[in-house]
Amino acid sequence: MEKIKSYIQQNKNRFLEELMDLLKIPSISADPSYKNAVLKTADMIKNRLKEAGADHVEICQTPGYPIVYAEKIIDPSLPTVLVYGHYDVQPADPIDLWTSGPFEPIIKKTELHPEGAIFARGACDDKGQMYMHIKAFELMIKTDELPCNVKFMIEGEEEVGSASLEGFVKKHRDKLACDTILISDTGMLANDIPSITTGLRGLSYVEVEVTGPNRDLHSGLYGGAVANPINILSQMIASLQDENNKITIPGFYDNVEVLSKKERMEMGKAPFNIDAYKIALNLGDVHGEEGYSTMERNSIRPTLDVNGIWGGYTGEGAKTVIPSKSYAKISMRLVPGQNPDRITKLFCEHFKNIAPKSVSVKVTPHHGGMPYVSPTNDIGYKAASMAMEHTFGKKPIPVRSGGSIPIVALFEQELKVKSILLGFGLDSDAIHSPNEHYGLFNYFKGIETIPLFYKYFSELNKN
Ligand code: BES
Ligand code: MN
Ligand code: MN
Repeated sequence: MEKIKSYIQQNKNRFLEELMDLLKIPSISADPSYKNAVLKTADMIKNRLKEAGADHVEICQTPGYPIVYAEKIIDPSLPTVLVYGHYDVQPADPIDLWTSGPFEPIIKKTELHPEGAIFARGACDDKGQMYMHIKAFELMIKTDELPCNVKFMIEGEEEVGSASLEGFVKKHRDKLACDTILISDTGMLANDIPSITTGLRGLSYVEVEVTGPNRDLHSGLYGGAVANPINILSQMIASLQDENNKITIPGFYDNVEVLSKKERMEMGKAPFNIDAYKIALNLGDVHGEEGYSTMERNSIRPTLDVNGIWGGYTGEGAKTVIPSKSYAKISMRLVPGQNPDRITKLFCEHFKNIAPKSVSVKVTPHHGGMPYVSPTNDIGYKAASMAMEHTFGKKPIPVRSGGSIPIVALFEQELKVKSILLGFGLDSDAIHSPNEHYGLFNYFKGIETIPLFYKYFSELNKN
């Protein structure tokens, strides 16, 4: 423990500078104009892994962005930890709302981060969290305290659905063989309330297009006589939820996992302050499915949300027009018992059924993913819990998250290995939003906790 702390102390500035360098590259996977930046980031990760002491560091080409792979096999008879993370980031828009450049990392103090936080796109999701693993690995190599074998698999397409990783995992089952998968790409409750993520929601994502007349029309000459595809789309979307905020798609809730009273009671024990929540988001009130708490609504219950909606005239001033088309992007977060392919199919059928004859609709499915739950009674969870208890001085609480990392369910299916979601971000870190940041406390606490995970994981494996 002392060795860990003193190594971090001695290398603190360099650990920060290296992360800042990584954050300067705009590795936005969704936008092809950033292709060179994404590739440059993969290259930087490769070099950093080499410098940290990994062997067989390679850039594995895929039909999309490359996967950086590295390993350190110290003794094949010892357990192996596979570290997964992603080096791609979300687009920075809306740029105007950033108080400093999204790719000009800068340290600022905030209320929740009095020691400072790094502001940049990807600071928390996931460059900062992924890089903790490379620095923790360096620390274990340099202090001669690596107790397990390690494999790294860092991808560049997580934010766009991990399409290439699926093929990679299926093709390289042997290469990726491991005893546990360790991921820091989630959050914890607060800096003084450590928690470990034990579940992720699945995802079904569709884009819809509603077409009315075959061309844009004068809204005076035609208004009232033909269907306005924006009005119709709004009505259709509104009808997808009833007065209790239940989703109305037939079959949507079939087989949804029902938690026992006891499980819900356990969940309810996690500290949560509804007033602070409302204040933090400037909300008059919370909103959601009748019969469930806020914590339940955003973790164990499925949802349907419009992520974007457009059509018609949105420029300066007023233009009188009935547009020919309207569009929306809709996501459904899924829970255990639901299957993304089936939900997408149910959505398509229902959406076509509710469309009036006056319009035609097209539904295009995007990426999806299965939900995931992990046990709290296996060696991996125990090691993570012991590591956090050691560095935070408090036993972490198991918490199911509302976010999705679709590839985690695929790891389980293909590699037959559970993932440990040891995340150090906070909900307030503004991931995917303007002014994303990551606390220095969180970054260094992660680097300190990860080597202890390895230590306890190897010890528990011996018993
Ligand atoms: N790291 C996030 C997921 C996350 C964040 C889970 C915080 C739990 C807590 C990941 O990068 C992400 O953004 N996932 C996407 C899905 C993906 C298919 C684009 C999501 O959840 O929207
Ligand atoms: Mn992420
Ligand atoms: Mn993300």
